[in-house]
Amino acid sequence: MDIGVFGAGAIGGYLGVRLGAVGERVRLLARHDLIELAGRLEAIDHAGQRAVAPELIVSADPDILRGVAICLVTVKSQDTARAIEVLAPRLDPGALVVSFQNGLDNARRLDEGLAASAVQGVVTYNVLRAGAVMRQATKGKLVIARAPAGLAGLHARLVEALRRAGERVEVAADIDAEVAGKLLVNLNNGVCAATGLPIAAALADPDARAVFAACVEEGQRVFRASGVTPASPFALPLAVVPLALRLPDAVVRQLAGRLVAARPDAKSSTLQDLERGRATEIGDLNGAIVERARRLGIECPANAAVLAAVRAHEAAVRAGERPRYLTPRELRDRL
Ligand SMILES: NC(=O)c1ccc[n+]([C@@H]2O[C@H](COP(=O)([O-])OP(=O)(O)OC[C@H]3O[C@@H](n4cnc5c(N)ncnc54)[C@H](OP(=O)(O)O)[C@@H]3O)[C@@H](O)[C@H]2O)c1
Repeated sequence: MDIGVFGAGAIGGYLGVRLGAVGERVRLLARHDLIELAGRLEAIDHAGQRAVAPELIVSADPDILRGVAICLVTVKSQDTARAIEVLAPRLDPGALVVSFQNGLDNARRLDEGLAASAVQGVVTYNVLRAGAVMRQATKGKLVIARAPAGLAGLHARLVEALRRAGERVEVAADIDAEVAGKLLVNLNNGVCAATGLPIAAALADPDARAVFAACVEEGQRVFRASGVTPASPFALPLAVVPLALRLPDAVVRQLAGRLVAARPDAKSSTLQDLERGRATEIGDLNGAIVERARRLGIECPANAAVLAAVRAHEAAVRAGERPRYLTPRELRDRL
């Protein structure tokens, strides 16, 4: 069984190397420097365990994905439309596609745009890529929707291979709840990108936490109005997260250490994109809440402020300038 990965960056490279390291035949569709680094790719998990996969096929030629039984899609949400164009003529209708992307709509877009069946996956941890090395920076698990009709065998094979590769994998009966829960947590991506702070630094700052808490509360209102009950990716129920974020610094530090275990250098992928001069996924994160809130007639000033700040940073990047990151206080004052 061949497993394709569309978009071998941090997540795609990490999962691809780990699957390859346990003997799966993996084909990574990659771009730029990753092709040159192909023979040296390695994945390091949160415990420091190193995996290498010298047999990996790494190429910029999309035809390597022809005939794969399973295809993991790991591009940023803004690249999903292009992934559909490239995959549509290359995937068999009987293939299983798993979107391991953030955002609310990627699996649906893939499923509608491809003859193959696509389901949503959720990655609850953070991965940083530095050259050939993909390093898991926070603890977490993978969650995958149940198998689509007729694909139970492939789905079970993938879950088994990921577990053998060392991943903690859960199959979710209600993937919408899992995706919504992850999105609420990811609203901090926008806070980090608006302020330029690593995850741990943002969680240590009371103003950044207050904005994050307000974003989560707005998101909860939007999901409640849409009939979705977000599942918590933590041991803690999501309902108490905004309250916990408003506790004194010392208490939050302890809680955050237990829940997120972020390395001090772990950065949100949205901030990483800005730092690399790229457009970001903000439209599918805080922007997804703003858009749904607009349709439902719900106010969401915190997510709107974060979205506007990150859009301004993207404009600066497009103009070849360095974004002027807001201080957490400045961001909070905009609410
Ligand atoms: N990184 C994390 O910690 C993390 C954690 C949980 C979830 N996620 C989610 O996982 C998804 C992937 O994130 P990531 O951080 O892995 O992103 P990433 O590092 O930017 O990886 C995406 C890769 O896809 C490549 N790509 C884009 N379009 C392509 C195309 N048409 N053909 C070939 N390659 C293409 C990109 O190449 P270029 O660089 O040339 O564009 C990049 O190497 C996102 O939805 C993200 O929100 C990320």
